[in-house]
Amino acid sequence: MSVTTEREIDTGTAYGLKPRSYKVELVEVGPGTPMGELMRRYWQPFAVSKDLTSEKPHKVRLLGENLIAFRDKQGRLGLVHENCCHRGSSLYFGRVEEDGIRCCYHGWKFDVKGYCLDQPAEVDGGRNRAKIRQPWYPVEERYGLAYAYMGPPEKKPVLPRWEHLENLEEDEHIEILWNTIFGTRDVEPYNPLHFNWLQAFENTMDSPHLPWLHYWHSCDQFTGLPLLRVDGDDDKLPPYAHIKNLAGQIVAARTELGVKQGVPMPVPGQGIFLASNEAMVPNIAVVASLIDLMYFVPQSDTSFLNFILKRAKKGQTFDNFNEMHFGKTWWEMTEEEHRASPGDFEAQSSIGQLPAHNYEHLSQGDVAIGLLRRRLEEAVRDVQEGRDPVGVQFEADAPPLRIGAHDMIPWNDAA
Ligand code: FES
Ligand SMILES: [Fe+2]
Repeated sequence: MSVTTEREIDTGTAYGLKPRSYKVELVEVGPGTPMGELMRRYWQPFAVSKDLTSEKPHKVRLLGENLIAFRDKQGRLGLVHENCCHRGSSLYFGRVEEDGIRCCYHGWKFDVKGYCLDQPAEVDGGRNRAKIRQPWYPVEERYGLAYAYMGPPEKKPVLPRWEHLENLEEDEHIEILWNTIFGTRDVEPYNPLHFNWLQAFENTMDSPHLPWLHYWHSCDQFTGLPLLRVDGDDDKLPPYAHIKNLAGQIVAARTELGVKQGVPMPVPGQGIFLASNEAMVPNIAVVASLIDLMYFVPQSDTSFLNFILKRAKKGQTFDNFNEMHFGKTWWEMTEEEHRASPGDFEAQSSIGQLPAHNYEHLSQGDVAIGLLRRRLEEAVRDVQEGRDPVGVQFEADAPPLRIGAHDMIPWNDAA
């Protein structure tokens, strides 16, 4: 006689897990991709202006394209396709001259708009040279950064001004900070972060990670930063010591340019504030009163640069952006020290070089991330359907753009 025993089957194993996949329209940035076309409708910073000297050409990788920046001896800035339009040598090996850049192979010379000025081996320096143009992009400089416009020429907007970066006092300037929270160096050629730009951009809309990662898991990583320096001893707990039910307290809303989110944050001796960030379409953020503008500029689908602008007083330094743990800067820490005190870099880069959106389970605490993704998807659709995306301005006298969140706002006022 056979006895049937009911076997309990515990499911949910990793067996048969589908391969990783991501939302292509949010992640990929090459020419012709949905996000790549959205990003190409905005001016994108690619270098710190003062690094672009006239001594030599500079390699630039931007939105999946290989480019060469050069400043001619008259100080004009150019950005051209890397490979010479004659027979393809890299202009990285070129020579910068008074009025342009000369290719190493046969000496063709191009000006900052790609016009061919000389073809030494041709009769009369090239009788047809006026018909030849090295592919180029418009560039402009502002706030200490060099920006490129890589989109359709007829859609070129004005390079925006930002209200909170205008009208500097006499003793003020705009400080450029670099990838510092993530611990890469500000040397040229710039070291990108080797994972997808969106993983870092979305972090600006991620409140629950503040108390968890930066305090409970990894000790108080933020005490060195100006925003959170607390001198009073009335409360020994760091500002982010609270986390219980945080998800229910997050305030998230659409703004004119993107998404704003905030979370109540007690600052000992000063009261409860709303730590308020804004992420703007397509790749710009403002982080409370800590960071005035933060660009997440993709070099490729799996690498990006992080340019940070901060209004600063004369003599004000921001070394504490680099001071992390164990008395070391981020890049000096050992593997074991990184494991003992992981920060933004470890959390974001370990997602993978590209995200796995199909593995995620967004929850209530991710409300602002969901909103940001929707906002980006809408802007992608705007471009696909022939509309101008949010925030682009075409009038030469367009007013400075206004952000929806900048300083910390007292919680009671903001609620
Ligand atoms: S390949 Fe550049 S001049 Fe010939
Ligand atoms: Fe963080």
